[in-house]
Formats: sequence, structure tokens, C-alpha cells
Amino acid sequence: MSAYDPRSPSTLGAVTEPEQTPERQAGDPGVPGQVPPIPAGEPHAPAPAVVHHDVVDHAIEKPVFETEDLSVHYGGKPAVLDVTMKVPQKEITAFIGPSGCGKSTILRCFDRMNDLIPAASVGGRVLYHGIDLYAADVDAVQVRKRIGMVFQKPNPFPKAIYENIAFGPRVLGMKGNMDEIVETALRRASLWDDVKDRLKDNAFGMSGGQQQRLCIARALATNPDVLLMDEPCSALDPISTGRIEDLMHELKETVSIVIVTHNMQQAARVSDRTAFFIVDLSAGEENRIGRLVEYGPTDRIFTNPHDTRTEEYVSGKFG
Ligand SMILES: Nc1ncnc2c1ncn2[C@@H]1O[C@H](COP(=O)(O)OP(=O)(O)O)[C@@H](O)[C@H]1O
Ligand SMILES: [Mg+2]
Repeated sequence: MSAYDPRSPSTLGAVTEPEQTPERQAGDPGVPGQVPPIPAGEPHAPAPAVVHHDVVDHAIEKPVFETEDLSVHYGGKPAVLDVTMKVPQKEITAFIGPSGCGKSTILRCFDRMNDLIPAASVGGRVLYHGIDLYAADVDAVQVRKRIGMVFQKPNPFPKAIYENIAFGPRVLGMKGNMDEIVETALRRASLWDDVKDRLKDNAFGMSGGQQQRLCIARALATNPDVLLMDEPCSALDPISTGRIEDLMHELKETVSIVIVTHNMQQAARVSDRTAFFIVDLSAGEENRIGRLVEYGPTDRIFTNPHDTRTEEYVSGKFG
């Protein structure tokens, strides 16, 4: 435990060299970093001409995550299929798309939270700094201390503010002065000045926005290198939302962030890259399948989408 270094992927388990796979070809070699345009079609068309195409962003050289044909089934039914993408380090990546397209499901693959859902089965690969996250020798608990998660509804423990932050580091046996660990985490979450005089108060007495920043501080306390955020602002007012967005900008200096948001303005404001997912209904209303349609730099996704469905979604025509 004493040799634990939160930034060293090697403590996850055996390091396996990523296989040297040739770059994918989706029929069209395309332009590196760009997605070839596909024929126009109705969004949610019964049989889109192309339901999935190459969305690997070649511009990302050292991804924190890389997925290869990642698919998740619940109880044997496909929920999201064939997601191949690279998530860059120290940037903010946004997942957008209509409800049910699999954004949360894919996010949960990045910290193996789907392991906790008995019906879920994960296929394909997820590499974290080149390590196969789902390899037999990788400890899911180790993964989750490296990769923090923040949820839609703030979920502090019914304990003192201090204890909320100290909990994770204590469980993990982190070395160092606990007061300092707590203060550092609260400062990183822009919460220290709000709470420094009431660290012993119950966290439930805080406002919703403060509770969410406490959950971010709690996630940061174990020094993760990734923060996964699933609609972290959807229960918050605009001022609290703005504070969280400012905080995300500060945090990306030190952590890689993936955020699911149903708010396109938020994706446009905060993220460096955006991944757009759809619900593919081509196999019938009963078989709703989430698919990644387009992925790239956020400004390009919003100003020059290559896929008609992306264009219609970002211009508010559906979803
Ligand atoms: N725990 C679960 N059990 C069964 N099906 C689920 C579960 N979680 C999600 N799903 C299904 O997987 C699909 C994708 O859901 P989700 O990842 O929550 O989408 P999003 O976050 O984009 O709204 C949906 O069809 C949803 O009903
Ligand atoms: Mg969701």
C-alpha cells in the first residue's frame, strides 16, 4: 500500500502492451481526425444508410481511455454497440445525445461501474493508459480510486463535511496529514472558503451547489487522474452550474474529465471534444441501440458537423 502512486498506471495490475492494431478503415480512409460525411437521412430513420462509421479521432496521441468496439448489453439486450473512440488526457470530453442513447452506460465502462449492475455485460475493450481495464488481473477497486465519478444528484454521506472528504483517503490508507488532504481537496473544488469554519457540520446542511462541489472534492481526495461526471449540473441552478463549469476549467490542468450532459450549451461552453450518440431504431422500436455517430473537437461538431444527424441534433431539430 505504501508504494501506491495514484498517477502510476502500473499499480493497477500487470501492464499489458496494447496490441499494435492497424488503424481502422471504415470503407473510406477519410481525413485524419475527421469523419467522412454520410448520406442524408431522417434522424432515427428506420434504416440509416450508415449506422456506424469510423469515429476514432486520430489527432489524439496519448489517450487516457481508448475503446475498441465497446458494447454493453443489459440482460442480453444490446444497449449501446461498437463504440470506438479515444479520450484525450487533460481535456474535457462531452458526451451528448438523446435520452437512452447510452451516454451513462459508456461512462460507467470507464470506471467499471457496470460491474455493479448484475444484468450488464461489457464487450470489446477499454484501455486506460494502454492497460486493458477489464483484464482478469485488474482490481476494480484500484480502478475506482484512480477514476472518480460524480453523479447527477449530489450524494454526500450523511456525515460531517470533513468526514465526507476523509472517508476515501482513510479507506485507501493514504499517507499524509489528513487535515491537509481534506483542505487540499476542498480548495481544489473551490469550496474551502465556504466551509472552513464549519467542517464539523453535517454535509446535508449545505446548498445543492455546495453539496455537488463537496462530491467533487470527495472524488478529488484520492488524487484521481480522471473525473467522470454524469449530468453533474442538471439538479443545479444557473449560478451553481456556472461555478461547477469554472471549476472544471481549473481542474483540467490536473485531471482528464469526461462529462455527460443533456445541455448542448454546456457541452459547447466547457468541452474540448464532443461525442454525439444516437438511439438507432433500425432494428425496431423494441430494440433501441445506442451508437456513437460523430466525435471531434467541440467547435467543429457544433459549427461544421459531418453527419446530418449531428447537425440536426445540435441545431435543436430533434432530441
Ligand atoms: N441498469 C440497467 N438495466 C437495464 N437497462 C438499462 C440499465 N441502465 C440503462 N439501461 C438501458 O440502456 C440504454 C442506455 O441507457 P443510458 O446509458 O442510461 O442512456 P443515457 O445516459 O444516454 O440516457 C437505455 O435503453 C436504458 O433503458
Ligand atoms: Mg444518463
